[in-house]
Amino acid sequence: MIFLIFLIYGVLARHVPYANKSFNSEELIQYREEVRELIYFGIDNYLDIAYPADELHPLSCAPSWRNFDDPMDFGFNDVMGNYSITLIDSLTTVAVIGDRDRFKQLVDLMEERFSHGFDTGSIVQVFEVTIRVLGSLMSAHLYASDPSKKVYLGDEYNGFLLDLAVDIADRLLPAYLTDSGIPVPRVNLSNSKTPLERGFNPNNNIVAMSSPYFEFRMLSYLTKDSKYEEVTRFSFEKAWSLRTMLNLVPSTFDPDTGVMVDSMTGIGASVDSFYEYTLKGAILFDDDDLLKIWQEAYSAISINAKEDWFFSVISAYGGYPSTSWLDSLSAFFSGLQVLAGDVSEAIAHNIMFMKLWGTFGALPERWDTNTAEEKQYINFNTGIPLYPLRPEFVESSWYLYRATKDPLYLNIGHRVLQDYKNKMKTECGFATIKSVETGEQEDRMESFVLSETLKYLFLLFDEDNEVHRSRDNLIFSTEAHPLWLTPEMKRDYQQNKYFNDTTYINHLDELKSGHKEWILKQKKEMNKQINKHLQKIFKYEAPIDSETRKDALKKLYAKRKLLEKNTELSFIEVYPVHEEFNNTCPVTHYDSSRNKGFFSPLMSTYGKMFDVNRRYDLEKPKYMENAPSIETEPVFYDRWCSPNSQSQFPSQAVTFDMVLDSTGNYDVIKYFNGSISGESFGGRRKLRIQRLKRGDVDWYGDYVSDRDFEGLDYTDIRPETPVSINRQDIYKVVKLDSIPIPKGQQVYIKSDLLSNDFNVSAVIADPFLNGKKSAFKRFGYNKDGHVISDNTLFVNFKII
Ligand SMILES: *[C@@H]1O[C@H](CO)[C@@H](O)[C@H](O)[C@H]1NC(C)=O
Ligand SMILES: *[C@@H]1O[C@H](CO)[C@@H](O)[C@H](O)[C@H]1NC(C)=O
Ligand SMILES: *[C@@H]1O[C@H](CO)[C@@H](O)[C@H](O)[C@H]1NC(C)=O
Ligand SMILES: *[C@@H]1O[C@H](CO)[C@@H](O)[C@H](O)[C@H]1NC(C)=O
Ligand SMILES: *[C@@H]1O[C@H](CO)[C@@H](O)[C@H](O)[C@H]1NC(C)=O
Repeated sequence: MIFLIFLIYGVLARHVPYANKSFNSEELIQYREEVRELIYFGIDNYLDIAYPADELHPLSCAPSWRNFDDPMDFGFNDVMGNYSITLIDSLTTVAVIGDRDRFKQLVDLMEERFSHGFDTGSIVQVFEVTIRVLGSLMSAHLYASDPSKKVYLGDEYNGFLLDLAVDIADRLLPAYLTDSGIPVPRVNLSNSKTPLERGFNPNNNIVAMSSPYFEFRMLSYLTKDSKYEEVTRFSFEKAWSLRTMLNLVPSTFDPDTGVMVDSMTGIGASVDSFYEYTLKGAILFDDDDLLKIWQEAYSAISINAKEDWFFSVISAYGGYPSTSWLDSLSAFFSGLQVLAGDVSEAIAHNIMFMKLWGTFGALPERWDTNTAEEKQYINFNTGIPLYPLRPEFVESSWYLYRATKDPLYLNIGHRVLQDYKNKMKTECGFATIKSVETGEQEDRMESFVLSETLKYLFLLFDEDNEVHRSRDNLIFSTEAHPLWLTPEMKRDYQQNKYFNDTTYINHLDELKSGHKEWILKQKKEMNKQINKHLQKIFKYEAPIDSETRKDALKKLYAKRKLLEKNTELSFIEVYPVHEEFNNTCPVTHYDSSRNKGFFSPLMSTYGKMFDVNRRYDLEKPKYMENAPSIETEPVFYDRWCSPNSQSQFPSQAVTFDMVLDSTGNYDVIKYFNGSISGESFGGRRKLRIQRLKRGDVDWYGDYVSDRDFEGLDYTDIRPETPVSINRQDIYKVVKLDSIPIPKGQQVYIKSDLLSNDFNVSAVIADPFLNGKKSAFKRFGYNKDGHVISDNTLFVNFKII
């Protein structure tokens, strides 16, 4: 009887339709299966139509080959080595979705295709081949030979994938045989010992100099041959040793001489995987040295580049913004922040990209963060509207969903899935979006759509995937190939490793003997550049005259005021807003029967959910006009947003960064009873400050009232040349080194550090100065210790 009831219940349950956006297991399974179909659709069409070519043309439904006529066509040729890259890159996707038959079939195809290894005569890019080919081969090898995995092949697998990994690695490794030990960017796979002409190998970026270390070290663990690890580690360490005094890594170097070519840095293109693999390497290899580098590097980039919603592209020397673009690649960073345990920052960073995806139905390759208003005054590089099917936003949303279980991330996944089904899917594949402004497609389907984008999307919906239950330290490579090491594998490597390739032994010996001198020389050169640079910024080079600037600020300010007053802002397409943004979720027809009491924590309690919309002109392109934003889509919003939620009032004040630079190492800044204590002041502290008037709303969402001005002493008691203090405005410090200062806390600085003896200077980063800085160094203080600068009192910044 009981059995019967279960049986009937089981039959019924299968047919009970889920309510849309309830995200119960039935619904998730449906989405997962839809992703699975897309994956098979892509792989099958590639194999039927394009194989053995590298890629599939998704619009013309034809094979896409490397450009044999023009070896310098790097956009294609760097990744397309005439080795069926889409097949190679898709292997682990089939493994992750757990389809053993299909995995076996693809592995068999690999064995047939690569009986002669990678002797293709192609000139390819070392970094791209490392992540797409070497990473995939090792990951597929692990899957095929690990009995704990669903797709384990047992006796049916002879280990040839690892041999292929060795084959490709040996063709790539000679890139490191340079005078500096920094690899050249490209090699000829058939003749990699002969250096290429200069045209193929101009400069290399910090990612290519540092990050192949991750895959190559893994190969050493799998083969016991430590030459891969040793050679690439030398370059990794050299790359890190080339950091500036701010602990920032410039993006580009000449591989022959090690001389810096471009000082730009950030977390996007050309720098991204340096951060990624420093932390992931620390985890996979249990390496404390790498962890320490990660901590220093993450701290430095956060202090210097972190905005509320993203990281700017900055100068590695000055730490000021050097362009205003936001790379879509940098969307990966929130995933990394989750791995680092910095979930609250990861959430904020991901929201920026959610808003962009909601606006464009994809991510522009580069988005200009300046509003139209600001663009009148700031002439930085503008955006690139291309979306080449990149995975980074889905990847981060998957990490965040695993960390928070907030249904908002499932809704992101659902939207991305709809867009892939409706916008990117073509007759035979998935098409790059040529312009997110028009939705126009382009006839290219890079291998990472199958390797990464759809894999992460699948995992987002596949609650029970073995990846989510793995007890190994499983880490996804930057191309989304899972790698892991068991304690036995680590022990085996430590006990049995060898290094007997004389070419590389001799090369490393030579490099190491000259290394100290080399670094000294580089540092000297760098110091020269830094001095030049500092001289320049402290002379206050305003690119536009001060009247224009004042005018611009006034306009911007007026516009923000207007925005706050406007009750029908574009971001609430669905509901009118009451009481100036008082609700995160201004629900008008909330249906309590549909919600069982669990709300999306982010939608319901995150006070700054709509700040991105307020700060930036997120205007939907014409063809997207009727698409709701991800977070305000009614069927999701009604269900998951608590009607009692509150959104904080948006800040209205003009915000500046004040940078304190010191050449010494002093105990300088603390704020009491908070989590930060600045033990040392080795170079730089950055304060984000707000200029506030009565009636403004500050960064915490509080009104500035007479009370904030009460009891302030307006006398500058500095010994020489005291100034008269402006009584209309106050300064409030809201962040220290990019970390928010809790409401009501004070920031303290030692008084002697404000004297010139210690060579402390402060500058403000002002959006209207083209990233240059205006001098802001005269400090005073009143009898209560409140710091005075710019003729204005800091209400929460004191000397002790
Ligand atoms: C969910 O929404 C889709 C699209 O609007 C609709 O076709 C489907 O019937 C809905 N499913 C349920 C169970 O309500
Ligand atoms: C490219 O690869 C295909 C398939 O393996 C092969 O037939 C062709 O000869 C290769 N082309 C060149 C120029 O190497
Ligand atoms: C790569 O090297 C091989 C062997 O020397 C040569 O035949 C081939 O032409 C080279 N490829 C290119 C694109 O130069
Ligand atoms: C290097 O050592 C390995 C492992 O002991 C051995 O298999 C290989 O033949 C050696 N190679 C050379 C060139 O000595
Ligand atoms: C800081 O915390 C301590 C102990 O919790 C407390 O005694 C003290 O009053 C606090 N100081 C400030 C400035 O809030």
